[in-house]
Amino acid sequence: MKPSDSRRQFIRHFAASTAAVSSAVALSACGGNSVDPIYASFEHGVASGDPLGDRVIIWTRVTPSSNTDGRDFDVTWQVASDEQFSKIIKSGNLAASANRDYTVKVDVTGLSPNSVYFYRFNFGGRISPVGRTKTLPVGKVDQVKLAVMTCSNYPAGYFNVYAEIAKLTDIDAAVHLGDYIYEYPFDGYASENAASMNRLVEPKTEIITLTDYRSRYAIYRKDLDLQALHAKIPLIAVWDDHEFANDTWIDGAENHDPATEGPFSARRTAALQAYNEWMPIRLPDPSKNNRIYRSFDFGDLVSLHMLDTRLIGREKQLSYANYMSSTGAFDAAKFTLDMSNPTRQLMGVEQTTWLQAQLTKSSATWQILGQQVLMARMNIPAPLVLGQISFGDYTNLLGKAQIAPATLTDKEKLILAQPAIPYNLDAWDGYVAARETVFGTAKALNKNLIALAGDTHNTWASDLTDMNGNAIGVEFGVTSVTSPGFEEIFPKEDPAKVAGGLEQIIGPLVYAETKNRGFMIVTATPTETRSEWRYVSTVKSKTYTMVAGKTLRVLPGASNRKLLPV
Ligand SMILES: [Fe+2]
Repeated sequence: MKPSDSRRQFIRHFAASTAAVSSAVALSACGGNSVDPIYASFEHGVASGDPLGDRVIIWTRVTPSSNTDGRDFDVTWQVASDEQFSKIIKSGNLAASANRDYTVKVDVTGLSPNSVYFYRFNFGGRISPVGRTKTLPVGKVDQVKLAVMTCSNYPAGYFNVYAEIAKLTDIDAAVHLGDYIYEYPFDGYASENAASMNRLVEPKTEIITLTDYRSRYAIYRKDLDLQALHAKIPLIAVWDDHEFANDTWIDGAENHDPATEGPFSARRTAALQAYNEWMPIRLPDPSKNNRIYRSFDFGDLVSLHMLDTRLIGREKQLSYANYMSSTGAFDAAKFTLDMSNPTRQLMGVEQTTWLQAQLTKSSATWQILGQQVLMARMNIPAPLVLGQISFGDYTNLLGKAQIAPATLTDKEKLILAQPAIPYNLDAWDGYVAARETVFGTAKALNKNLIALAGDTHNTWASDLTDMNGNAIGVEFGVTSVTSPGFEEIFPKEDPAKVAGGLEQIIGPLVYAETKNRGFMIVTATPTETRSEWRYVSTVKSKTYTMVAGKTLRVLPGASNRKLLPV
């Protein structure tokens, strides 16, 4: 269709919608209103996502008045190559209906690669805000720039991080690694300052039903900073646990009690439906809304494989509590046996096979895994993990062992002799065989592997090594948009000392930052990939400053699989 034809068609739709408004008014206008109040507005902004070389998803939600009588609404859309919409490239219309919570999503095809487009919607004569999006490059590519973020808990603070990302003008895609929403009630996790910040969530209860999940997405999407991000940059997202409930696995969650909250399967079904309604995501198989693992190719430079380590194949997390005797002794042998079970799954067999095929197929310089939980080995001395000693006391002990080892007591020597064990069994550390499988594939294929990780609310950058000590790749772990990090777990400790201490006691860890909220900018070129961490000084106020973090990089090639300073 020629641009001029699309423009005429949009105007025709506009006219038809206006006519519909007029007749509706005529049928119902007892009070002589001139505008049908059933067409309210676009309260949740616009969004785009899952760009490919020739297509992108565009999204909006129309906001009819409450009295819709279950009717559908015709929504018209336009995509243009200019912000003034003088060059309409594509247009069409579709129905917004109650069974999709009045969200509309269009996979706009036939676009040119590496091109900026603008889009908008028309709902009963009301025009949406204009969104900007960009398709992926193809062929030879010199640079890919991603903004990477995770863990945006609405009551915990303002989305200053989203506002900052929305200001960036050279980002190819925004990558959200999950915890886009949180499921807790209005006075739940990290909500201490929510009332004074006017950030109390809706509904007030923990979200369990479809109506609950929809309402929660709606309150998040009313946030103007999040709307700004969505309107500016295409999003590539995966869920983590809080899009369902804390510490989800394939058929349950830590924060789900079937006795009082019903079967987990019903909650999962509700959460999945709301996610797919509200997020600008393209399902690889429209008949399976629980399958979101998918790849994005940025020409010959980057293949970004978005993974689901949370829901589709994850076996239940192990718990240290199950390996403690009544006297408090830790059964390390049984724990190691269970954790090393060769069939234990994090992604599931099907997704693992798919990832192996994707890695095999792609000849891009960089293979980037966009995924939820830390992949690097994060072993911490057992007395710390098991809460037998404070972090400060332990680092003091380490200092004493270095400076004056002869003064150590027998009890102190015993503490220092304890082995290091994984600090987080919800991460890849709790799924050792699954991690070795991915590492083995990357090594056998000689790929330049980079893992992106979220989930922890702190910054981590680590070298990835397999069980035999082979260098496999690197990991860039991003802090949160708002969710609190170690600064709230160790409020009395100096964050710089916490980060320094962790870097000292965790072998593969190169960089930790445990105080600030922020995001990463990951820039890939044929000669290196670097991650730059950027922080905001606070999320408790709309007034903040930017705080520069470290920048680290990795070079391509089998002999360069480690983090380097810039
Ligand atoms: Fe989180």
